[in-house]
Amino acid sequence: MSLQEEIKIRRTFAIISHPDAGKTTITEQLLKFGGAIREAGTVKARKSGNFAKSDWMDIEKERGISVTSSVMQFDYAGKRVNILDTPGHEDFSEDTYRTLMAVDAAVMVIDSAKGIETQTKKLFQVVKHRHIPVFTFINKLDRDGLEPLDLLSELEDILGISSVPMNWPIGMGKNFQGLYDFDNERIEVYQPADGERYVPFSEVGGHTLSKNPFYEQAVEDAELLRDAGNEFDKKAVLAGELTPVFFGSALTSFGVQTFLETFLKFAPEPGKHKTIDDVEIDPMNPDFSGFVFKIQANMDPKHRDRIAFVRIVSGKFERGMSVNLLRTGKQVKLSNVTQFMADTRENVQNAVAGDIIGVYDTGTYQVGDTLATGKLKTAFEPLPTFTPEIFVKVSARNVMKQKSFQKGIEQLVQEGAVQLYRTYTTNEILLGAVGQLQFEVFKDRMEREYNAEIIMTPLGNKTVRWINPAELDEKMSSSRNILARDRFDHPLFLFENDFAMRWFIDKYPDVRLFTEFNV
Ligand code: G4P
Repeated sequence: MSLQEEIKIRRTFAIISHPDAGKTTITEQLLKFGGAIREAGTVKARKSGNFAKSDWMDIEKERGISVTSSVMQFDYAGKRVNILDTPGHEDFSEDTYRTLMAVDAAVMVIDSAKGIETQTKKLFQVVKHRHIPVFTFINKLDRDGLEPLDLLSELEDILGISSVPMNWPIGMGKNFQGLYDFDNERIEVYQPADGERYVPFSEVGGHTLSKNPFYEQAVEDAELLRDAGNEFDKKAVLAGELTPVFFGSALTSFGVQTFLETFLKFAPEPGKHKTIDDVEIDPMNPDFSGFVFKIQANMDPKHRDRIAFVRIVSGKFERGMSVNLLRTGKQVKLSNVTQFMADTRENVQNAVAGDIIGVYDTGTYQVGDTLATGKLKTAFEPLPTFTPEIFVKVSARNVMKQKSFQKGIEQLVQEGAVQLYRTYTTNEILLGAVGQLQFEVFKDRMEREYNAEIIMTPLGNKTVRWINPAELDEKMSSSRNILARDRFDHPLFLFENDFAMRWFIDKYPDVRLFTEFNV
């Protein structure tokens, strides 16, 4: 296959959902169809004590939540599919946001009984901001849920996106009979008596299902939708303005295969990516380029390694190739690189634009780094960072272990696990996060991976504002507005609350405060 053909068959997407909507279950099913795993449940058999590699941290096992993301790849119907998993817990949403920068489409899983939940809403905003296509899977049809028409209205009213159903449920819960599949013009029968799972519309008249009141209701709904609903419009789907909606039941693997096939039919090929000077890099550009969207340490406790996840934007990866690391201007050699085939990590056979590779990292890379060969001289647009809301002060419990303490802090900060600040004059270490769980994972990893016990003093919520160094006077700081510097040495204040900030603004009307450093 030519490089162009190779790139054209890539489909790279992430699944987003509120915890418990069924993201893990559907991921397992998709991998199963891809022949990647023999039995659904291999990816994550929580509570049974049988964990796959994506659950590498004890803290995850203990809590039964997924806090890290991983990448899975499989082949299906002539396409090479990359699924990027995202952490389920909202304290790790920053990780999810970065992952969403590395995909060309998103699948949104919704629990039919709960409708649109808070986390779905937040994640959807990022997807919307990127204008990438969103495909919706409304799950758990084997249970009673909200009315299908009401679920569509929620998409419109709460998320503000138009929707077009690709299939329609025939009953639900105990009365779930199957799906009316518009795209394939057939009925998918939930529990076929005669083993006939798919019945073409043209033949449904003679089928026992056609005498079922739920079937009649579904046909009526479908007619209503045809008259009053949105039409399928591929262009609008690709622009992220219209979401195709699929109903199904991941647990019973019902409607999932049809979803996968229809999704692959319409999901986009690898897209262009913008640099900071607004140049769009085409995936077909033969020069290799990519960016680091995630760094994860010690994925395999036996190897104690660190992996930088790189989304390839253009060209082809070749083992041992030298690339420019644009942040430092230095050349780095990509020799130890892995790819993620379902539940194993393998050496890269063939990675092109659209794929994700894992580069072995000994502290060279940072989240957001651009790697490139050839003429590309400007980095890709930076990844979104979150202004932390809660803070702690940390120090090493054992002063003799300063070295491993420093190393742990440095590496975990580079990974983007937490954000690092120092008090301006006394240089004490402060950490900022979006959610409390980030600190707990940080503490746990410092002990486990770096053998550095830490003392963590909570500082509570703070409002962060950067200040122009030229306008700074150290006397402006007080116990209610801590003066600190970020890891690039930019000065900032941590205000105890908005009231303390307003007091500051009244007192120093000529001093400008910024929500990010932009001097
Ligand atoms: P998540 O990754 O989005 O957090 O959700 P996950 O797949 O873990 O699913 C959450 C719960 O919902 C699980 O049950 C799962 O079995 C169930 N579930 C997923 N899809 C369906 C479906 O189509 N129908 C029904 N009825 N249930 C579904 P659990 O008991 O909380 O966890 P587990 O013990 O099965 O792991």
